[in-house]
Amino acid sequence: MDDVDRWNWSREEIRRVGYRVIDLIADYLTDLPDGPVFRPCPPDLVEGFSSSPLPRSGQDVDALLDEFSATVASFPFGNGHPRFFGWVNSPPAIVGVFAEALAAAMNPSCAGGNHAAIYLERQVVRWFKEMIGFPEDGSMGLLVSGGSMASLTGLAVARHVKLPGVRTDGMQHLRRRAVAYVSCEGHTCIRKALELLGFGSDSIRAIPVDDALRMRAPVLDDSIRRDLDSGHVPVAVAASAGTASAGTIDPLHDVGEVCRRHGVWFHIDAAYGGPAILTARYRDALSALKEADSLALDPHKWMYVPVEAGLSLVRDGAAMRDAFSLVPSYIRTDGNSAGVLGLPWFSEYGFQQTRGFRALKVWMALKLHGVDGYARSIERDLSLADRLADRVRQSDCLQLVTEPSLSIVCFRYAPQALREDAEALDRLNKQILEAVQLGGNAFCSSTTVRGAFCLRACVINHRSTETDVDLLVRHVERAGASLSS
Ligand SMILES: Cc1ncc(COP(=O)(O)O)c(C=O)c1O
Repeated sequence: MDDVDRWNWSREEIRRVGYRVIDLIADYLTDLPDGPVFRPCPPDLVEGFSSSPLPRSGQDVDALLDEFSATVASFPFGNGHPRFFGWVNSPPAIVGVFAEALAAAMNPSCAGGNHAAIYLERQVVRWFKEMIGFPEDGSMGLLVSGGSMASLTGLAVARHVKLPGVRTDGMQHLRRRAVAYVSCEGHTCIRKALELLGFGSDSIRAIPVDDALRMRAPVLDDSIRRDLDSGHVPVAVAASAGTASAGTIDPLHDVGEVCRRHGVWFHIDAAYGGPAILTARYRDALSALKEADSLALDPHKWMYVPVEAGLSLVRDGAAMRDAFSLVPSYIRTDGNSAGVLGLPWFSEYGFQQTRGFRALKVWMALKLHGVDGYARSIERDLSLADRLADRVRQSDCLQLVTEPSLSIVCFRYAPQALREDAEALDRLNKQILEAVQLGGNAFCSSTTVRGAFCLRACVINHRSTETDVDLLVRHVERAGASLSS
């Protein structure tokens, strides 16, 4: 290929290289279970990445794919592997992998316009509303990079609605302090979002949790009352429908009730747990998702859509537009599907102007698997988490720290001799975590529950089997035995 050919590939060249790429994808995804779950990038490779110069002249595409295989594909994050139970990261739905390529081939901007990608995104958003029973009339939603951006988006609308004039005056001219509330188990992205929106950390109340790590609604109520008595403005409460640490679900009905009583915005971070509403087990606990003023739910977590794909839903779509739109009202159109511009642009409802075609991978995954397929897969993950908890209970040296909630299990290696020594247990479990992660046979992450360091497994993995869960337990036991002997 010469310089010109590198820009303008022939149909044959696209096919030839494309088939090579397909082979790489097929080999990568099917070989993955036979390799280590994780291994760190070797130092010489890291050195190569850090020192390689800006390419001056172009290179051959086949050499490029060879380099990808040797240096990139060989050192993955780990989350495609059936024994990966770390953080909140799933393997990709394979149809989503192809959807990414197809979306990139079309390469539209989904800021807005009258093209199919826009209608597909609106369709996907409508499906999610239906899935959780969110009102269709007057509400609005859009796809964003993930849960952090979805919460930032919802909370920005909250700020706009509850602090009239904030778009002109900013936060610094408020006469009264604006405050927001999140449980001490809530995800850090909520605090990040609130800080970015101008709530200083002193204006973010950390509401304590009960024994099951759920926000205490009566304490929230008291906290809001105290702020009102002090002349502050309670703006928003962010509840969790599946915390990242232990998977717990706040008492959503009660929290919503408190919010309505005081006229405070009710935001729910359902980034992880939201899709479990499809299961019989969690239908009731999550039925209050539809009561939220705004909601974050990530297709790239428990719906296995390749990253990045988050969803922001807002009950009052007009307020969402008012919070973000910079189109002066006198030239705003309500949109129609006949002209070039189409319906009101997504870019008026969120922060991004040029927006990727994220909807295609979500749309394809939903159509291929259907909500019934998702329900079955999520239910399987739930039962694998139950099995893991059972194995932990049956073990002489392991201790269950939290009952499985959604699909997260927190546990630790706690031989009888060390059970009363909290510091030694924390130290030992930190060593075990590192040994298991670097051992390459299984992967879990960690968290702190009521001050105790523990191991944490999150099963959002359609590739995992009972054997994989049993192997995680076995490798933790082995590492524990060898490190404590
Ligand atoms: C409960 C919860 N909320 C929010 C987030 C942040 O989402 P993202 O990483 O997609 O921005 C996470 C990430 O794991 C999460 O687990």
